[in-house]
Amino acid sequence: MTSRPIVPGVLWVGAEDFDRRLFDSLIPLPDGTSYNAYLVRGRDKTALLDTVDPSALDKLKANLEGVERVDYLVAHHAEQDHSGSIPWVLQRYPEAQLLCSAPAKAMLVDHLLVPEVRLRAVADGETLSLGGKTLRFIYTPWVHWPETMSTYLEEDRILFSCDWFGSHLASTELFIEGVDCVFAEAKRYYAEIMMPFRRIIRQDMEKIRSLDIAMIAPSHGPVYRDPDSVIRAYRDWTDDTPHNLVVLPWVSMHGSTARMVEHLISALVDRGVTVQPFNMATADIGQLAISLVDAATIIVGAPTVHVGPHPAAVAAVTLANALRPKARFASVVGSYGWAGKMAETVKAGLPNLKVEFLEPVVCKGYPKEADFKALERLAEAVALKHGELGLAVPPAARRGGR
Ligand code: FEO
Repeated sequence: MTSRPIVPGVLWVGAEDFDRRLFDSLIPLPDGTSYNAYLVRGRDKTALLDTVDPSALDKLKANLEGVERVDYLVAHHAEQDHSGSIPWVLQRYPEAQLLCSAPAKAMLVDHLLVPEVRLRAVADGETLSLGGKTLRFIYTPWVHWPETMSTYLEEDRILFSCDWFGSHLASTELFIEGVDCVFAEAKRYYAEIMMPFRRIIRQDMEKIRSLDIAMIAPSHGPVYRDPDSVIRAYRDWTDDTPHNLVVLPWVSMHGSTARMVEHLISALVDRGVTVQPFNMATADIGQLAISLVDAATIIVGAPTVHVGPHPAAVAAVTLANALRPKARFASVVGSYGWAGKMAETVKAGLPNLKVEFLEPVVCKGYPKEADFKALERLAEAVALKHGELGLAVPPAARRGGR
């Protein structure tokens, strides 16, 4: 797709990637993604904000055809899907100075072998006039690396936020009016890379609270012309209060754990608790990550393989531990054949979570009447805990689990 104007003097010059299906070799991308770069032309100087993934360099080159001079290249983030084409830009525009946050300097040198002489670290809050276009650099750490920063274009009131507020969506539409059409994609992106840093992100949100923002132009997905919508979504996602939701990643080999999970789901629903189950044999782990954003309780369902949990259940535990969701409670259900420490192993796999562990339900072989009763007691305990916290029904519940 060719370059497109956002406002006079500001162009989108990035690349859509309709075919990309995996990010970080981990999270599925059902809707592709984009690598957004922006060209800001002032009366006197021109700045390029970010570049594109090296796989899309040809598209950036095409979009910069006819651009004879770039005075500044702003690197908001050192990750390669935005910084990977910096070496080509610096070569193509030998006059360009590379601007970044102080912590980004070493990272750009380490990851991209950028010559230090081309680099200048800007200060938090520093402004740079291009002539009628003023860039204000705002350090916004941990969205989602320590060096990330944003740029506010004062005259046009555009916040260039890089990954922050971004969504994995390739689209021919440059703009989006609300967040609804891109909610799942934005939440998927938040869940995968931002969630572990939600407390720091809340501080970043405070930093931009006083800005008059007409548009948010992230580095993935469409430009928001109604920035309040995605800001409101981020306030909910980063808030400490979870929703009345159990996320239930599970796997079964011969049906015992599946039967337990089925009974537990019914028992929870009977008690007014929303459940999003994910069969880990087939689940989109991006959807699991999305559910972890809101869940008050995580219950892992796993059969025992030799002495420990099934590896597919371990994958869910590892993901939850890495993403550090706001969940307050956790438990385990599942079966074993002759021996094992399945429940203990699951519990030990979640050291990063600040959760209260509820009594697990582990049975030998196929579940029996006493096991079903134990599952109902677990559901009762979950409902009681959620009730004590006064949790609301999750808005994401309408999207269901997998
Ligand atoms: Fe879109 Fe952190 O890179």
